[in-house]
Amino acid sequence: MSAIKAMQDRVRDAHATPLPAAATTPEPARRTDPPLPTYASVDAMIAELKPTEPVFCFLPDEMKAAARRFRGLPGRVLYAVKCNPHPFALRTLFEAGIRDFDVASLEEVKLIDSLFGKAAGQFFNNPAKSRPAIRAASRDFGIRFYTVDCAAEVDKILDETRGGDDLIIAVRLATHSRDARYALSTKFGASPAEAAELLQRIDRRGVKAGISFHVGSQCLSPDAFGAALDLSGKVARKAGVALSVMNVGGGFPAPYPGDDPAPLERYFAEVIYGHRKLGLSSSCMLMCEPGRSLVASAGRVVAQVTVRRDRTLFINDGVFGALQELGHPKERRPVRLVRADGAATTTTRTAEFRIYGPTCDSNDVLGAPFVLPDDVREGDWLEIGLMGAYSLSMRTHFNGFFLDRVVSIEG
Ligand SMILES: Cc1ncc(COP(=O)(O)O)c(C=O)c1O
Repeated sequence: MSAIKAMQDRVRDAHATPLPAAATTPEPARRTDPPLPTYASVDAMIAELKPTEPVFCFLPDEMKAAARRFRGLPGRVLYAVKCNPHPFALRTLFEAGIRDFDVASLEEVKLIDSLFGKAAGQFFNNPAKSRPAIRAASRDFGIRFYTVDCAAEVDKILDETRGGDDLIIAVRLATHSRDARYALSTKFGASPAEAAELLQRIDRRGVKAGISFHVGSQCLSPDAFGAALDLSGKVARKAGVALSVMNVGGGFPAPYPGDDPAPLERYFAEVIYGHRKLGLSSSCMLMCEPGRSLVASAGRVVAQVTVRRDRTLFINDGVFGALQELGHPKERRPVRLVRADGAATTTTRTAEFRIYGPTCDSNDVLGAPFVLPDDVREGDWLEIGLMGAYSLSMRTHFNGFFLDRVVSIEG
């Protein structure tokens, strides 16, 4: 491990250099939010509220632990705001040392700015942005880091930001996503040949160039990062452009049942060795932008059973709410039944239940069955774990249902 440690120290030193300064306008007042209601445990919350609407529970200690774990990855750790943009999550991560954010829209830019002002770094990494969004990000918020995957986007960014040698443009490279639950290179990402041309185009305009990739979300193979780094090296050599940034994206997995991913440290080691093999200059900034792995363990959804029909349950949250990801048949989560007033279930037998959400749409069904005590009944609550990622951010108001009760569990 000492080789890894030495490498970590070397890369960390290289990243001590701050990013280009943000906007020069005076700092506006920061946003304030009332504190979340806090309970010692999920059971205590249920006992007190007896909630008849779904409740999202944050576990801030889990988020802080995940942020600490990412200190094992040298370079800059950006949090992907889209994964869970609740101000409580953003503030908790900020307090835990995550000071940089991957933003995908002007609304996310404004959110981060309203919470942290210039104390946060913002990286506008959605490869397809509108002109007004780029203009406002550059002019009003001082953002100097953008990602592209085509020539039109390079030109648009140069037009709208007026370029400059403090501007950094990263080229998103398509990589294979076969080891990931959610492919993220079908919509975005240049081919190796296109990426090399884009690097040259950026370099010719006197702007710093970099490479970014995303191996896909919930990536179950650490090797995918090594392969993507190898490909990045080939592209940079073909372009003959010195990289200012190497962004290995997100994709670090959450420990969902059935997925049993390798420990995060295996992924970090793959990034460290893959990056070292590239032999990049020490001024090239290594960065990553995890979402899921920072927040998945830090969220639980408590939903109530509204109807039992044989081995089918209807509950008050579903795929149009915070359980959106559970529509996928491979998505599993730990689940626990909680009965009113702490009453015990009357059986040790379990059975598989098909779970429907509350809306009238037949697609509002969870893809995998839940194994629950056989006597589950109307009024019971289901505590669904590992729900911190892509849950609150995916809620809709469809059919008038909307999860809007959020609490913190600080035992
Ligand atoms: C550009 C970008 N970066 C980072 C992430 C976060 O990925 P993950 O949650 O898999 O870590 C995403 C997810 O969609 C993304 O699109």
